Amino acid sequence: MDSASCYTIVSYIYKNIQQKQTMDKPALTSQSIHPIIKKRWSPRAFSSKPITKDQLLRIFEAARWSPSSFNEQPWRFIAGVKGHESWDKLYECMVEFNQKWAGKAPILLLSVGKKTSTNNGKPNGVYQYDVGQSMAYITFQVMEEGLRAHQMGGFSKDKARELFSIPDDYEPIAMMAVGYQDEPDTLSPDFEDMERAPRQRKALDELVFAGRFGKAMFT
Ligand SMILES: Cc1cc2nc3c(=O)[nH]c(=O)nc-3n(C[C@H](O)[C@H](O)[C@H](O)COP(=O)(O)O)c2cc1C
Repeated sequence: MDSASCYTIVSYIYKNIQQKQTMDKPALTSQSIHPIIKKRWSPRAFSSKPITKDQLLRIFEAARWSPSSFNEQPWRFIAGVKGHESWDKLYECMVEFNQKWAGKAPILLLSVGKKTSTNNGKPNGVYQYDVGQSMAYITFQVMEEGLRAHQMGGFSKDKARELFSIPDDYEPIAMMAVGYQDEPDTLSPDFEDMERAPRQRKALDELVFAGRFGKAMFT
């Protein structure tokens, strides 16, 4: 083999290896935590590689086994696969900021919560809590599948209600983009900077109290 062909093959392999590497931003933890929690973060660079129906089924199966008050299971999900009408409608609900980065994600989904208890018809004070927890379950199963998720509050609830005929007793809660992660330089420069920015968290002593509110448990 001549040196030119050898160079072409080596650079092809190198490019492919590079494409397979994605940027990690693991949590800088003070304690050892579950690897999936440490690894999870919310990238905005998604590749257009589709995900399988089985992956999607497992993601929603995880949500199904989330706990809820009185086992009400107030969560509902509207999912869209790229190339299909549901994805287009979900994309239309998103604010422009989110549309700018989420356009390649193969899956968009919207969580919806049932506002009243099925038992007695009274307002369920924790339906949003329960729906949020089911979305957390989804994020962990997404990680297990080698995928990434990015949740969004930036969307129009009114538009979602209208486009998907969501009944009055149900409230759109949050959206999520799911897919394989891509390299930061596939984003526009502003989003690339955000993608590479360090992650921030409050310290435990600002969050966990004992004795009275505000008195740190761990000092
Ligand atoms: C309910 C919720 C709403 C969010 N809304 C948006 C959004 O509209 N657009 C966006 O780019 N990120 C959004 N995010 C992502 C957060 O900015 C992100 O989770 C946070 O900065 C922490 O970063 P990490 O998930 O990488 O740890 C949202 C996250 C959650 C949980």
